[in-house]
Amino acid sequence: MADQNPPPPILQLTPLNPDFRDDPHAIYRRLRESHPVYRDEMAGSNIVTRYKIARETLNDRTMLRGPDKVDPPGPFTQRLVETFERDPQTGEPRTNSILLMDEPHHSRVRPPIAKALYARAAKCKPLVDEIIDEKFGAVEPKGGFDLLSEFAIPLPIDVIGAILGVDVERRAEFRDWSEGVIQVLNPFRTPEQTAYLERAGEAIRNYFEAQIAERRANPQDDLITDVVRLQAAGAELKDAEIVSNLIGLLVGGNLTTSDLIGNGVYALLTHPNELAKLKADPSIVAQVVEEVLRYDGPVDITARVTPRDMEIGGCPMKARQSVITLLRSANHDPDVFENPDVFDASRKPGPHIAFGGGSHICIGAPLARIEAQAALLKLFQRFPNLRLARPNEKPERRTLPFFNGIQRLDVLI
Ligand code: HEM
Repeated sequence: MADQNPPPPILQLTPLNPDFRDDPHAIYRRLRESHPVYRDEMAGSNIVTRYKIARETLNDRTMLRGPDKVDPPGPFTQRLVETFERDPQTGEPRTNSILLMDEPHHSRVRPPIAKALYARAAKCKPLVDEIIDEKFGAVEPKGGFDLLSEFAIPLPIDVIGAILGVDVERRAEFRDWSEGVIQVLNPFRTPEQTAYLERAGEAIRNYFEAQIAERRANPQDDLITDVVRLQAAGAELKDAEIVSNLIGLLVGGNLTTSDLIGNGVYALLTHPNELAKLKADPSIVAQVVEEVLRYDGPVDITARVTPRDMEIGGCPMKARQSVITLLRSANHDPDVFENPDVFDASRKPGPHIAFGGGSHICIGAPLARIEAQAALLKLFQRFPNLRLARPNEKPERRTLPFFNGIQRLDVLI
């Protein structure tokens, strides 16, 4: 029977709500059944809960992306726009990051960044394997370790750090800056978190500005040099755009990839039959990673803005309204995925939308896949008896809204 209760504001679809923390999929299920698309007046956004509508919305390249396009802006989008800089010529709020950028800038800035990143990602497998082996060497004598702080968190930082060509010794600072800068996407941030965001943003911008100047003087074999060279060869990139998007690569890749690895290890350890399939046939690892992305993906939402009066999922919307797609809800839609709440390592990779879609689809997806595949495969090969230290306890989840990961996962080897 259809749920007669009013649908929850987006605030309730975060770990701030204990019911959501306990069982997000019970809430998502009710929403998909009763509210494929609904209006959240409090946030000033429309929320899409079903797969087909979410996919069409993300793939529609006429949709806008920047929260500055929402009119009138709800409190939710207002928080994002507050962090934008002002265009010196027009005075309009503008972001230099492709994440929230619209045309004509997005298709100017994304291609050179993507070209440099994809080329580095394509040859990074030996580097990833080497970093993983180094982490294993450090934890092996201990007999047990926290999978997050000792493996899943440092791995992506070291990998993207090496790709960018930044100082590995400053890894702790990068994690700290990442945690601060990611608050940009937290509309419910406290004044302390805003101060942290500003502090981290300034530190990381200063760092990359210095690195760019350094690479111009002394080119290296790294991504910062690649981007500076593309700029010198004619790619239309402003320095501020390079800085913002290098930050985007450092930050975008850290928390999410750590969460993918953490969620993947937890899914496998709590589904022994599925883990047995991976151990029996390591060649299925790519499909296992796709199933983790579908079953327990690291990112809850992504958003678009209506470019004109239009209908989404049969709902009429005015131009310049915010549309939020619930990625994890879409990835459990039974219209698309059979037994969607079952973690099935033999599921044929289907069309999940954990990386979003259309022109803004995650630029780091190839790299995240390489890291997660190597991490899961090598972890269970090196430690075949890997198991949870406290199998009867649910691990503590992280509390950052719209990101889905485990805070700490103690394992024995
Ligand atoms: C499992 C890991 C990851 C997940 C689940 C993830 C998820 C996402 C999602 C949902 C979006 C928004 C897409 C849309 O709106 O359609 C996105 C965009 C983006 N991601 Fe990722 N991401 C991951 C890893 C990475 C990595 C490793 C990097 C960088 C090295 C990265 C950098 C970015 C950037 C720069 C964008 C903005 C792209 C654009 O708007 O053109 N991400 N990601």
